[in-house]
Amino acid sequence: MTAVLIKGAKLYGEGDPVDVLIENGVLARIGTGIEAAEAAEDTEVIEAAGQVLLPGFVDLHTHLREPGREDAETIATGSAAAALGGYTAVFAMANTDPVADNAVIVDHVWRRGQEVGLVDVHPVGAVTVGLKGEKLAELGTMAKSRARVRVFSDDGLCVADPLLMRRALEYSTALDVVIAQHAEEPRLTVGAQAHEGEQSARLGYTGWPASAEESIVARDCLLAKHAGARLHVCHVSTSGTTDILRWAKDRGTKVSAEVTPHHLLLTDERLSTYDPINKVNPPLRTGGDAEKLRAALAEGVIDCVATDHAPHAVQDKDCEWSAARPGMLGLQTALSIVAETMVKTGLLDWRGVARVMSERPAEIGNLPDHGRPLAEGEPANLALVDPDAEWTVRGAELASIAGNTPYEGMRLPGVVTATVLRGRITSREGKIQ
Ligand code: DOR
Ligand code: ZN
Repeated sequence: MTAVLIKGAKLYGEGDPVDVLIENGVLARIGTGIEAAEAAEDTEVIEAAGQVLLPGFVDLHTHLREPGREDAETIATGSAAAALGGYTAVFAMANTDPVADNAVIVDHVWRRGQEVGLVDVHPVGAVTVGLKGEKLAELGTMAKSRARVRVFSDDGLCVADPLLMRRALEYSTALDVVIAQHAEEPRLTVGAQAHEGEQSARLGYTGWPASAEESIVARDCLLAKHAGARLHVCHVSTSGTTDILRWAKDRGTKVSAEVTPHHLLLTDERLSTYDPINKVNPPLRTGGDAEKLRAALAEGVIDCVATDHAPHAVQDKDCEWSAARPGMLGLQTALSIVAETMVKTGLLDWRGVARVMSERPAEIGNLPDHGRPLAEGEPANLALVDPDAEWTVRGAELASIAGNTPYEGMRLPGVVTATVLRGRITSREGKIQ
């Protein structure tokens, strides 16, 4: 196996620059003045002066669309987007066609991810059969399959029936897995098109009230506490949800939560263009919500950033608002949006970025080899970031088949210059290796 020598990067952006020698898939040596000559002959050297070395990112919430919608994304193209975005592990959501609600499908997704080999693809199993919300899927069989499913979710849809959610949480404790809830009380969002507020009233959209999210989060925190189970809340979007999470954590509920890059940066002000590129579920909220989400992430009330990378084919996005599918690309822009909203604002330093993009998601998803400290002997799953560089987003140039990025044409800070998976460079200078 080729050795890799990263020269002159700052670990977590802190202290003096160091050299990091990677051999046999681990961080073999960290120090100063390490030369390629000391390592194997075919050592690949990365000159990284001024750059920040972080543990590789882990995404708890990715839609890879395979099987079923390979016209929007495949495991191969989504893995490439992940590697280019600094990710070393992603969790692939279950709302595929057929649904990943059984061991055959989750094993297929896992195996295909291994074949592609650019990022560890961990399939999420559906909580209910066919995402129908009626009957529990065979969680145990999926947890014990080759794919070893660790996260279950009906994402895209809410497990709305409280009894079914209670049972899922109860089973999850025996399997040591986590239930990730898409919190949306469906009776409160019938026909909803946008955040319920001034903008939706002005534009004539049926509203998606904050309380539809908050009522489910509150309910599920109570159920999780009662069951002694771990609950993960997907894509938190409202200020009220952060208050509920703080309350639940304070009383010892085992609840974790994620926020998407788009909910950190974008607001419903964007809706006045009527461009469905901005349609997403949960919807973009107000500037006040975004501000509370950023503060909650900095404070740890929200544990991590997850992309909700949701590629959609042109015909599903480039149409009138009401017919368009909700969702946005996220894998290749996540680090930059976090740099823009959290680092430039002083809310997080790079060690904080490592926490919310790598360490916490790896813990929640139970991945022992990801999100590890940057120390000798640890697995070499890494993201190298140039904090001072900027780039301009072009949907057509992203690795995804779909091009539905809401950041088209925006100039963003923070460039992922290399990603390393188990000692192998998977992306470098914007190219898949
Ligand atoms: O915007 C979204 N898109 N939210 C979801 O919950 C599902 C996702 C998708 O699958 O497109
Ligand atoms: Zn969702």
